[in-house]
Amino acid sequence: MKHIDIIEILKGQYTDQKVTVCGWVRTSRDSKNMAFLELNDGTTLKHLQIVIDKAVMSDISEFMKLGTSLKVEGTVVKSVVAEDSVEVNAESITVLGVCPPEYPLQKKRHTLEYLRTIPALRVRTNTFNAVLRVRSVISACIHEFFQERYYTYVHTPLITGSDCEGAGEMFKVTTLPFNHEFKTEEEYDAADFFGRRAALSVSGQLEGEVAAMALGKIYTFGPSFRAEKSNTPRHVAEFWHVEPEVAFAELPDIIEIAEDLIKHIINTVLTKCPEELKFFNAHFEKGLIEKLENVVANDFAVMTYTEAIEALKASGKEFQYPVEWGADLMTEHERYIAEEVCKRPVFLTNYPKEIKSFYMKQNADGKTVAATDLLVPTVGEIIGCSEREADLDKLLEAMTIRGMNIDDYTDYISLRKFGSVPHSGFGLGLERIIMYVTGVQNIRDVILYPRTVGTIS
Ligand code: 4AD
Repeated sequence: MKHIDIIEILKGQYTDQKVTVCGWVRTSRDSKNMAFLELNDGTTLKHLQIVIDKAVMSDISEFMKLGTSLKVEGTVVKSVVAEDSVEVNAESITVLGVCPPEYPLQKKRHTLEYLRTIPALRVRTNTFNAVLRVRSVISACIHEFFQERYYTYVHTPLITGSDCEGAGEMFKVTTLPFNHEFKTEEEYDAADFFGRRAALSVSGQLEGEVAAMALGKIYTFGPSFRAEKSNTPRHVAEFWHVEPEVAFAELPDIIEIAEDLIKHIINTVLTKCPEELKFFNAHFEKGLIEKLENVVANDFAVMTYTEAIEALKASGKEFQYPVEWGADLMTEHERYIAEEVCKRPVFLTNYPKEIKSFYMKQNADGKTVAATDLLVPTVGEIIGCSEREADLDKLLEAMTIRGMNIDDYTDYISLRKFGSVPHSGFGLGLERIIMYVTGVQNIRDVILYPRTVGTIS
């Protein structure tokens, strides 16, 4: 069906021309001689006004129902009320799909909680129209960032035999039906599809490191899976993960790359999504645009974990979880550091080695690792980053202390035997950066179909 995108018509190039447009009715208003519809086709947040002269079209009742899909032929004219806009004087209207009154999106605004119960329809709201476009723009600009800087995009496997984060929060992959034939777990795993235990990957990092040891600079961008039972506004079981891995980069180098990427993302959204940001600024976070402009104009803070613990202790605040050197930081601590202490994004560095992953480079103090998390106000952690342990003996020691099965990681270990180099990388959660850029506070509302513990729709 040949038709013009509404975004093109609203740009004004078709004024005084005959056009065909298609879309869904978002609002309708009837008066004595005229009727007005607002049509949206998803190419922009803005709706196109369709003006109906009732002397020309009398039977308009079907067109007026919200959610109905229409094909409209008519002439584009300057808007009578908004000087800088255009509308279409309808000459003929065809109903493509009727929409009965039980269509749930009748009210102007619905709660996000209610919208989560109608995933197939919530995409038709302004919020999801804006979120999904920002998500698309961010995804494209992430590729642009790396491609322009000589990184190779590699596709790491989603099914894996090793646990990158060592946290054991993996979804098992199996083809074996339930039965009680096996005496041990090992026997059961051996009889399975791969002849050993397999799971959905929590991160492409380990294979990303393999590629970086040949291609120098690589990135992966795909889904990661975590069977964490964290029913929080920041966790989903399936999220999109951006993971660069850079040979010859030490911790300060990778911190610089991470800051540049975040600023590139924000600058791109400021330039390419002004309408969407205005919408989020009005409905989700007052001062959002100013916040984003400030973030790109200023350096991010850098603070050690030890300094953060001191600041938390000195705060006099009652936290739900205790603050002690050696303890993992909770969202309440992370947010306090980013929001109250630094008042901007902050790289927290040099965490105690016991609370971080086996692959992180051990610092000379014997207590900490060269790792950093990027914490941002309102969201908390959006990036997990580290320099990798390039020394074979130290790596093996860290794995042994954690009781890991060395045989599951032979490829990874071999990188330290054959021309090992200092290297670093990080993981950015796509949904978390979208939350930060849009002000949307629940991760379930920045992804088409959220997968969370106990819910799959
Ligand atoms: O800090 P994480 O666990 O780091 C890694 O997976 C490393 N292997 C990355 C690397 O160095 N290549 O996860 C990285 C980021 C987090 O900062 C967060 O933004 C996101 O991934 N993330 C999640 N996002 C949504 N839901 C979850 N359950 C997430 N778990 C991690």
